[in-house]
Amino acid sequence: MTTGRLAGKVCLITGAASGMGAEATVRFAREGARVVACDMNLEAARRVVQTAQAAGGQSIAVAMNVAKEDEVKEGIKAAVKAYGKIDVLYNNAGVFPSDDHSVIDTEEKVWDTVLAVNVKGVYLVCKHGIPELLANGGGSIINIASFVALVGCSVPQDAYTASKGAVIALTKSLAVQYGPRGIRSNAICPGPIETPLLTQWLLKEPAEKAKRLNRIPMGRFGKSEDIVNMALYLACDESRWTNGAALVVDGGITSNYF
Ligand SMILES: NC(=O)c1ccc[n+]([C@@H]2O[C@H](COP(=O)([O-])OP(=O)(O)OC[C@H]3O[C@@H](n4cnc5c(N)ncnc54)[C@H](O)[C@@H]3O)[C@@H](O)[C@H]2O)c1
Repeated sequence: MTTGRLAGKVCLITGAASGMGAEATVRFAREGARVVACDMNLEAARRVVQTAQAAGGQSIAVAMNVAKEDEVKEGIKAAVKAYGKIDVLYNNAGVFPSDDHSVIDTEEKVWDTVLAVNVKGVYLVCKHGIPELLANGGGSIINIASFVALVGCSVPQDAYTASKGAVIALTKSLAVQYGPRGIRSNAICPGPIETPLLTQWLLKEPAEKAKRLNRIPMGRFGKSEDIVNMALYLACDESRWTNGAALVVDGGITSNYF
């Protein structure tokens, strides 16, 4: 597609096989981007790419575990080989394991896994992707954090919370370093979104679901497209003066005292 808000742009999306990453792959392709859909689950990423192509978009699937430097390096190379450049790095891959609790009862291996994917993954994609953005005269980095980085939670997931706080801090550091060279870096802090990440365990139990729903002033959980709408703004040139922001898209949950 040669028209759309992302016409001419090459966007690399991690965690593209499910939830918000899958939604973004299809939507970005519909908006004219050429999308490099990266995921450790290549088969599922391929199915998402087929949906994007069926809608008339251009997209390829690339196998990438974001916690492994050699795979990230190869994935970035594959993107440039396929489409000649990268304009947007969209760090969306993340994990939220059910055995992540308070610090006193979270196993070290759980902590290490969460930090390896959610923080080291962003570092590695930026490490190997930023040189491509610079070679292209600039671009946009979109990092997916979470509302849990902004408020405390009495049902803790401390590794996840710490990881998303680190994503916001890193986003601001990158914004200051690379803004002068044409790269804007922003984070999105989604509220609870109905994707497999939440529905597979946290929202299964009706009482647990109701507890969380009660806190959301808009009266419903978010949908992937609610977040992708913001990501689309950050990927396209409309956001040309938005840099270093942590944009909260949460139905009002973090504003809710009672
Ligand atoms: N769903 C929510 O309520 C919510 C809220 C706030 C933030 N987030 C964040 O949004 C992002 C997307 O979440 P989602 O809800 O769409 O999740 P999801 O579980 O539906 O999809 C995540 C995708 O990431 C992939 N992935 C996991 N580990 C990976 C790795 N090491 N390398 C490459 N790919 C990997 C998975 O295979 C999957 O396709 C995550 O960073 C998550 O932490 C989600």
